[in-house]
Amino acid sequence: MTTWSKSSWRNAPRIQMPDYPDQAALNAVEEQLSRYPLLVFAGEARRLRKHLAAAGRGEAFLLQGGDCAESFEQFSSDMIRDTFKVMLQMAVVLTYGAKVPVIKVGRMAGQFAKPRSANMETIDGVELPSYRGDIINDLAFTPEARIPDPQNMMRAYTQSAATLNLLRAFSTGGYADVQKVHGWTLGFTDTEKAAKYRDLAARISDTLDFMTAAGVSPENAHTLRSVEFYTSHESLLLEYEEALCRQEAETGQWLAGSGHMIWIGDRTRQPDGAHVEFASGVQNPIGLKCGPTMEVDDLKKLMAKLNPQNEEGRLTLIARFGAGAVSDHLPRLVNAVREEGANVVWTCDPMHGNTIKSSSGYKTRPFESVLREVREFFGVHASEGTVPGGVHFEMTGADVTECTGGVRAVTDEDLSSRYHTACDPRLNASQSLELAFLVAEELSERREKTSTQAAG
Ligand code: PEP
Ligand code: CO
Repeated sequence: MTTWSKSSWRNAPRIQMPDYPDQAALNAVEEQLSRYPLLVFAGEARRLRKHLAAAGRGEAFLLQGGDCAESFEQFSSDMIRDTFKVMLQMAVVLTYGAKVPVIKVGRMAGQFAKPRSANMETIDGVELPSYRGDIINDLAFTPEARIPDPQNMMRAYTQSAATLNLLRAFSTGGYADVQKVHGWTLGFTDTEKAAKYRDLAARISDTLDFMTAAGVSPENAHTLRSVEFYTSHESLLLEYEEALCRQEAETGQWLAGSGHMIWIGDRTRQPDGAHVEFASGVQNPIGLKCGPTMEVDDLKKLMAKLNPQNEEGRLTLIARFGAGAVSDHLPRLVNAVREEGANVVWTCDPMHGNTIKSSSGYKTRPFESVLREVREFFGVHASEGTVPGGVHFEMTGADVTECTGGVRAVTDEDLSSRYHTACDPRLNASQSLELAFLVAEELSERREKTSTQAAG
C-alpha cells in the first residue's frame, strides 16, 4: 500500500464484512451518506486525544462502556439515559479512587456492526448466515432477515445522530450535576446488600459537602454540573466509515466522522488488512483490541502503522485475555511497547475473554471473572512499572440478567428472565456500579502503596 485514502482499504484483504447482494443499492446508500453531516467534530476528537494522552501518563483514567451491540428494536431515550446515568455514577466513584479525571467514552451512537466467530448459525438443523449487527442484517432467524441490507446503514446513522443529540443534552443541560449523580449512588449503597460500599460513598459525600462549604458547588462551578462525554464503536463496516470520513478544510487531516474514538477488533487487526488500513489514516483516537493471539511482532507492526509519529493519546491498547490468562500475555506485550518506546494507553476489557455458556444454556460472564481480570491487569502493570490507563465494559443501565453474580446476585437460573442483549452479555446497572466501587478500592490501595514506597 503506498498512499492512504479514505478508500485505500478497498485494496487490502477484508474479513468480517458482508457481501451485499445488491451493489446498486449499496452505492446509493454510500452516496447519500457521504453527503450527510458528520456526527462528531474534529476538534472533539483532538480533545479526546489530549485526555487520552493524560491517561497514558497516569494523569487521567478512561472509562469506556456500553452495549455490545446497539439495537434498533430496543432504541429508546430511557435506554440512553440509564446507561449514561450509570456511567456518570461510575465515573464519580472512579474519580474518587483514582484521584484523577475520568474520561467518559460510551460504546454508543454507532456501535452496531459485529464480528462473528462463525459465518453460519445453525438452529434445529437449519443453517443461516450469522447475524452481524443491526447495521448489516436482522437478528430474526429467517433467510430474508439475514440478507445484508444497505438501508440499515441509514437507520444506524439516524439512530446514532439522535443518540448523540440526547447525550449532548444530558451532558450540559443539568442532568450531570455531580451532587445529583452521587445522590443516585447513595440510593444503591443504602440497600442492605450494598452496605459494604457505604464507607466509600460516605467519604465522597464528605468531600462534596466540604467543597460546597468552601464555595465550590454545581451552582457556581461549571465542571460540577456538566461533563464531557464521548462516543466510540468498532470501525468494522468500512463502507459506512468511509462514507462518513471527511477531510478537515483547515488542517487537511481526515476524520472518521462516525464517532469520536474508533477501535479495531481482535479478529480484524491484521497489520496489512483493510481495517488497520482505514484506521491508519484518520486522526481520531484509535483503540486496538489485544487478545491472547496477539503476537509481539504484529503488535510492533501495528503500533508503527497506526501511530507512526508516536503521538500520545493516539493509540489505546485494549487488553482482553480472560481471567487467569493476563500474566501469560500482558507482560510480553508491555515489554514490546517498552522496547519500541511507544506511547500507548493500556486499558482492560475484562468482558471478551470471560464469556462462558451457563448451565441454563445462556452465554454469560461471571462477575467474579470480570473483577479478577481487572485485578490481574492492575497487578501486571504494578509489577512492570507501567500505567493501567482505564477499563472497558459491556454494560447497560437497564436491569438485565445477562452476567451472573454481584451483590444483587444474578444466578444461572435468573438469566432467562431479562436476557435482552442482541449479542454479548452485559453488566447491569447494579453490577456496573459495584464494579466501579471495587476498581476504585483497587486504585486507591495501589496509589497508597506507591506513595508509601516513594516516601520510604
Ligand atoms: C467487542 O468489543 O464487542 C468485540 C467483539 O470485541 P473483540 O474484538 O475484543 O472480540
Ligand atoms: Co461484545
